[in-house]
Amino acid sequence: MARRLHVAIIMDGNGRWAGSRGWPRLEGHRRGAATLRSVAEAAPGLGVGELTVYAFSSDNWKRPCEEVAGLMRLFAEYLESETRRCVENGIRLRVEGRRDRLEGALVETIERCERRTADGGRMTLRLAVDYSSRHAIAEAASRGRTPDAVPDVDLMIRTAGEQRLSDFLLWESAYAEFWFTKKTWPEFSVKDLELAISEFRLRVRKFGALPAPHETRTLGLDPRRDPLAAIAADA
Ligand code: IPE
Ligand code: IPE
Ligand code: MG
Repeated sequence: MARRLHVAIIMDGNGRWAGSRGWPRLEGHRRGAATLRSVAEAAPGLGVGELTVYAFSSDNWKRPCEEVAGLMRLFAEYLESETRRCVENGIRLRVEGRRDRLEGALVETIERCERRTADGGRMTLRLAVDYSSRHAIAEAASRGRTPDAVPDVDLMIRTAGEQRLSDFLLWESAYAEFWFTKKTWPEFSVKDLELAISEFRLRVRKFGALPAPHETRTLGLDPRRDPLAAIAADA
């Protein structure tokens, strides 16, 4: 059986999705939460063992306080409503990022949700909240370590047409494959995740080495015609 994947998603475009309909930005975030629920529930069946999603960056504190307050309320509601569903679906929910700037009640909700879903064995769903990859790297380095809370990413997805990391999993994406879509996050569906994963499976990952001979075969590269594949086949 294929190794289970670590997929990371930068869930972007909630505000644009709502704005294009003349709706408040928070409505976009609400719809985004519904997308996350369906994607997270389908992901284990698509071979995903870890799903890490960017929900609120440390730079998102710069947004208007009504939007920040609305997002924090939405996280609390999401954690409350998803705990039971995660338990039923065998999903372990974890929250990554700083907790010292979150309200006490939200931290308690996070801890309760993490405790109750701790035995979920089908997939780990990691929500990055008040997350900054630079901060995580600097913090680990100050203890003489490298960041170890999140494993290496196989596939990094970003919605809404932007092609940047915005301080998400910089360390862990060293050899990630990237997949971008113009669809906003509320428009994203399980079909899009399936498409991203099927395209990922066609990529040749080399990690600085030469492609393994079996990969040149599965990709249909003929070592007699492809000089790079020929070198790999000899190795
Ligand atoms: C992503 O959607 C969600 C968060 C950053 C919390 P945005 O809110 O960034 O939506 P756009 O990019 O403004 O459309
Ligand atoms: C990144 O999106 C953060 C999340 C998706 C939670 P942003 O919308 O904040 O990123 P920039 O500002 O476009 O880079
Ligand atoms: Mg955005």
